[in-house]
Amino acid sequence: MKKLLVAFAVLAVLLASCGGAASGKPKIGVAIYKFDDTFMSYVRNAITENAKDKADVEVVDSQNAQPTQNDQVDAFLSKKMKAIAINPVDRTAAAAIIEKAKAKKTPVVFFNREPMPEDMKSWDKVYYVGAKAEQSGTMQGQIVVDYWKANPAADKNKDGKIQYIMLKGEPGHQDAELRTQYSIKAVTDAGIQVDKLAEDTAMWDRPKANDKMMSFLAKFGDKIEVVFCNNDDMALGAIEALKNAGYFTGKKQIVVVGVDATAPALQAIEDGTLLGTVLNDAKNQGKATFDLAYALAKKEDVAKAGWTITDEKYVWVPYQKVTKDNYKNFK
Ligand code: GAL
Ligand code: CA
Repeated sequence: MKKLLVAFAVLAVLLASCGGAASGKPKIGVAIYKFDDTFMSYVRNAITENAKDKADVEVVDSQNAQPTQNDQVDAFLSKKMKAIAINPVDRTAAAAIIEKAKAKKTPVVFFNREPMPEDMKSWDKVYYVGAKAEQSGTMQGQIVVDYWKANPAADKNKDGKIQYIMLKGEPGHQDAELRTQYSIKAVTDAGIQVDKLAEDTAMWDRPKANDKMMSFLAKFGDKIEVVFCNNDDMALGAIEALKNAGYFTGKKQIVVVGVDATAPALQAIEDGTLLGTVLNDAKNQGKATFDLAYALAKKEDVAKAGWTITDEKYVWVPYQKVTKDNYKNFK
């Protein structure tokens, strides 16, 4: 009897160490750069939603610290996860993560924060799911161009140029750099001149953007005609500061644009405080991330996971313009 019990115990340990083979579901480790980020919480929900019934996903909060995330990756690898999906804190840390994963033959899907091309090429079991940052910048700029052309009153000082403020996301993040660049490019490509009053980072963060906007208002006041924000949380922070300064009532108007199409941003479009945003498609980015990680975990052909794979490694989920005309479709 005792021998039998020991045999069972050994069997149970063996099964448990087989990466979830006991439940028949593969184990997949997911690390998010920080949970306290509106858009990433949407992506996280989409991942867990799609994993239901298919895989045992363990999702961890890297708390905006790369050393914490590195430890979490080590833990995933020692638990023999079948695949890992990583939203890096620091894009340049991808090289070290790939090296470790490769040593354990554990495929990696990066998402939202794009590793450098040379790192992506260092192993064939590395993928990236994201969206083309340039596209979101271009669309944001076009929303401003359309409004500017149709509303001459937006040019407050009548000099034909846009006096603007740029609220940037985290420096070095592809979305922050390229949205900043391409939003303005879309404006100047449309033949409209610009005057940059100020540009500063608010780290994707609503309260930080609120602070920055208060000081810009103190400095430039009604000279500001457009506020470009790399994401909606910052746009909402800026809007709060503008509301407190009496904007969005009567003649005191100003143009604010964001990116992501979060629920509060859609509400702000309805309220008439946010001119527009760009859908950063969390549902599909989360689904693609899971589908790829799942196919890799099951050693299936990634090309058959239901997504177009570009350059053998990338899944690009398209952005969409969101304004008063179509915001209801995104609620
Ligand atoms: C961007 C998004 C931001 C923020 C960031 C995190 O794509 O627009 O709101 O979530 O990712 O990496
Ligand atoms: Ca002007």
